[in-house]
Amino acid sequence: MHRIEIWQGDITTLAVDAIVNAATNSLLGGGGVDGAIHAAAGPGLLAECRDLGGCATGDARLTRGHDLPARHVIHTVGPIWQGGTQREPLLLRSCYRRCYALAGEHGLARLAFPAISCGVYGYPHEQAVGIAVAETLLALQQYPTLEKVIFACFSTDMAQIYERTLSRLRQAGLA
Ligand code: APR
Repeated sequence: MHRIEIWQGDITTLAVDAIVNAATNSLLGGGGVDGAIHAAAGPGLLAECRDLGGCATGDARLTRGHDLPARHVIHTVGPIWQGGTQREPLLLRSCYRRCYALAGEHGLARLAFPAISCGVYGYPHEQAVGIAVAETLLALQQYPTLEKVIFACFSTDMAQIYERTLSRLRQAGLA
């Protein structure tokens, strides 16, 4: 359990191996955490993203961190919530799996995630956090190089959802 940390604050301040960006398909920036990451990373990040040619929903891409304290950014594109009938859970799971696969390939040990799809994309928070935590527990088993996963929450409410989800899993003996 010490490998998972729930933290409240601005993800752009974290000096980890990679912070994850809740990006848009073009990878060319937007609002929310994406806007904050591009603002803090500087124009070099946008230039590197431009060369990637976009990213499908549920997939992920790795860039350098540029002016961020984090060494890398993993950009993943979460699903837009459309009532749950458009494979949203599968696509959100895929975001976490692709991020962890990239981290594994590149030997990244300390990662921080925002609550992907939980802002503008409207995913119900409890359900999204359930997926985030379940996929993280699997990844911690699958990738021994992974030392620490930080769930960076912008609000107290979101931090409490992560806390509740983790303690439910602990009580069930799953974490
Ligand atoms: N640090 C940590 N968390 C943050 C930060 C930050 N600096 N800024 C926002 N958040 C939180 C939000 O409160 C929300 O819980 O990140 C979560 C994800 O919200 P969004 O950034 O809106 O991401 P998402 O719902 O996945 O929508 C992605 O938004 O701005 C666009 O370009 C982006 O099109 C993409 C879409």
